[in-house]
Amino acid sequence: MNVLMIERINALRAEIAAATAASLDEVEALRIKYLSKKGAVSALMNDFRAVPAEEKRAVGQAINELKAFATEHINTLRDNLSSGGNDADLLDLTRTPAPLRLGSRHPLSLVREQIIDIFRRLGFTIAEGPEVEDDWHVFESLNFAPDHPARDMQDTFFISREPDVLLRTHTSSVQTRVMTSQKPPIRIICPGRVYRNEAISARAHCFFHQVEALYIDKNVTFADLRQTLLYFAREMFGRETQIRLRPSYFPFTEPSAEMDISCNLCGGKGCSFCKHTGWVEILGCGMVDPAVLEACGIDPKEYSGFALGMGIERITNLKYQVKDLRMFSENDTRFLEQFTAAH
Ligand code: DAH
Repeated sequence: MNVLMIERINALRAEIAAATAASLDEVEALRIKYLSKKGAVSALMNDFRAVPAEEKRAVGQAINELKAFATEHINTLRDNLSSGGNDADLLDLTRTPAPLRLGSRHPLSLVREQIIDIFRRLGFTIAEGPEVEDDWHVFESLNFAPDHPARDMQDTFFISREPDVLLRTHTSSVQTRVMTSQKPPIRIICPGRVYRNEAISARAHCFFHQVEALYIDKNVTFADLRQTLLYFAREMFGRETQIRLRPSYFPFTEPSAEMDISCNLCGGKGCSFCKHTGWVEILGCGMVDPAVLEACGIDPKEYSGFALGMGIERITNLKYQVKDLRMFSENDTRFLEQFTAAH
């Protein structure tokens, strides 16, 4: 019996039996070490040639057993790791992926874009101004009397007093920004956020959004305003929509009006939404007061214009019947997801 060979085989068997692996790479290293062409078992095979003929049978059998043992042990190590499923080799690339959750446009953005798009077709371009403003742009240039209630701390958020720095309460301030920096003809639409010192409830919020439109040129008349409003209302709420202008008052327009549209829920027949009047109010408008033109350096004898302003939340409520204003700023995805497919 070739004692040396048998001892080597037994030692190798003990070594392999003790071998462990923490990763598939380590299993592969073991396979190379013991079972590859240059591995320890193959080395035994090479030496086997020198074994005397009468011992070949016993030694050969022992080597074959060792090879089978090493193969099985290494396979077991590999299987144990694989069943943990923690290796990239085992990713099932044919598996159907989990569906990607797409976000949705915010309803206020959808409606703002729609309003902008309608006015764009009439040749209006977008203008923007700062949310933190001064008294002159928000109130004084727009003909607000010094004791106007909007100038009270109760209605307006002030950042400082004297000089007055405040959060704009309406996008009309962008009118003066544009009139003082551009020459007529002016045809702009100003979407933006505004702030008012209101207690938050279902029907009021301390911030909301408006769109302002301003058109200044030679010979602009109230008829131009009315036709623009009719076009807007029909594009926004449908071809059947009727409009109604009621006399009103704003410091910066003369004459001023509020526009109602025929209730788009009941078609004007009367329902709880329109308080059984058949009409709902949607915006304020008027001819730009000559005093405002003058304050902004535009000659009122040469130019005239109209302005209008509307709340985006109000229009959105009309389109989508959102009952509580707070939903617009709560980021509740159950609410927002409803607008995924809305246009
Ligand atoms: N600025 C007004 C408001 O916040 C809305 C408004 C009314 C804007 C009449 C206008 C306008 O341009 O002509 O309530």
